[in-house]
Amino acid sequence: MGRQPPHRRFFRPTWAEVDLSLLKQNLRRFRAKMPSGVKLLFVVKANAYGHGAADCAKAAASSRLADWLGVSSVEEGVGLRQAGLRLPILVLGSLYPFESFLAAVEFGLTPTIASLESARRLAAVAERLGRKVDCHLKIETGMGRIGIRPAAAAGVVEYLSGHKLVRLQGVYTHLACAESDADFTKHQLALLKEALRAIGKVPLRHAANSAGALKYSASRFDMVRPGLAIYGNYKGFDPILSLKTKVVFLKSVPRGTPISYGASWRAKRPSRIATLPVGYADGISRGLSNKGWALLGGRRCPIVGAVTMDMTMLDATDVGSARVGDDAVLIGSQGRETISACEIAKTLGTIPYEVTASISSRVPRVYLS
Ligand SMILES: Cc1ncc(COP(=O)(O)O)c(C=O)c1O
Repeated sequence: MGRQPPHRRFFRPTWAEVDLSLLKQNLRRFRAKMPSGVKLLFVVKANAYGHGAADCAKAAASSRLADWLGVSSVEEGVGLRQAGLRLPILVLGSLYPFESFLAAVEFGLTPTIASLESARRLAAVAERLGRKVDCHLKIETGMGRIGIRPAAAAGVVEYLSGHKLVRLQGVYTHLACAESDADFTKHQLALLKEALRAIGKVPLRHAANSAGALKYSASRFDMVRPGLAIYGNYKGFDPILSLKTKVVFLKSVPRGTPISYGASWRAKRPSRIATLPVGYADGISRGLSNKGWALLGGRRCPIVGAVTMDMTMLDATDVGSARVGDDAVLIGSQGRETISACEIAKTLGTIPYEVTASISSRVPRVYLS
């Protein structure tokens, strides 16, 4: 029999373990690679890429390893404030509808603006509340998502410079190809620099995600914005999340036995099939049907048949010792074997961000520190 889940606040034995000491180690490692004085905005959007935003943010804040937090929406920022986080929080995503500026300001979040219209609407909110408000202006340099064209940025800056309540605290852009294309990245940085020359002095200029900050010293400016590396799914950093479950059913089947919907797998030999209580509703992609792996008894066992909504089957024939109640690992290590989010992403033709961000709210997060 394997260990009991660390907390008895759930019965179904499927949980994600997030190691906060490794998170801090990754933050320290990242900081050590940056020049001193460069601030670090820890990107905790999308529930910290599935790792749990409040707990990850608290670990970073309490150890003073992050200066800022980054979220994608006002809702995410409000959630962090309600969890007691006091660090400055930049809302990276589009704030449309502009009514959301009101909530952003009330909860002490720093909005992104990306047009003259958004600057005006933020100013109206500041006037209505009679409060000073900081904002960051996002410049489009090649990502093609949100951002004002460099040539139009000066107009927004001029408008804000005449406003008593709204301060342009930051100017930033986002790199589209930091991992894959040096020329493209350098061009983006050149466009940002050109825009910054026209804008003049601002306290915080920033551009770099994990890959940008690690690979291009010219991208670091006053602040870097890593996410992926801090969660450990980047070369030189340690993954902080493991997805674990237990065998809940084990059977011996004769050759030819079909497994799961569509009978896409049949036993080629007398086999032992283990059922795991985890499925695509937990974030185990159906694309792993007959392609993915789980660790059991310290060995890799293939996922056989279709991954179903709530359960996934393994061929455990080669793990003679397997028993109901044994621990199985879908992401993470067991014995000498490891299945990383990066490996799963490769199998699925996606990126590790999607693998961890897909772990659903049904899976309890257990924090180790
Ligand atoms: C605007 C912005 N900055 C920074 C990041 C962090 O990127 P990474 O996780 O690659 O470090 C993201 C993530 O997508 C982002 O959208």
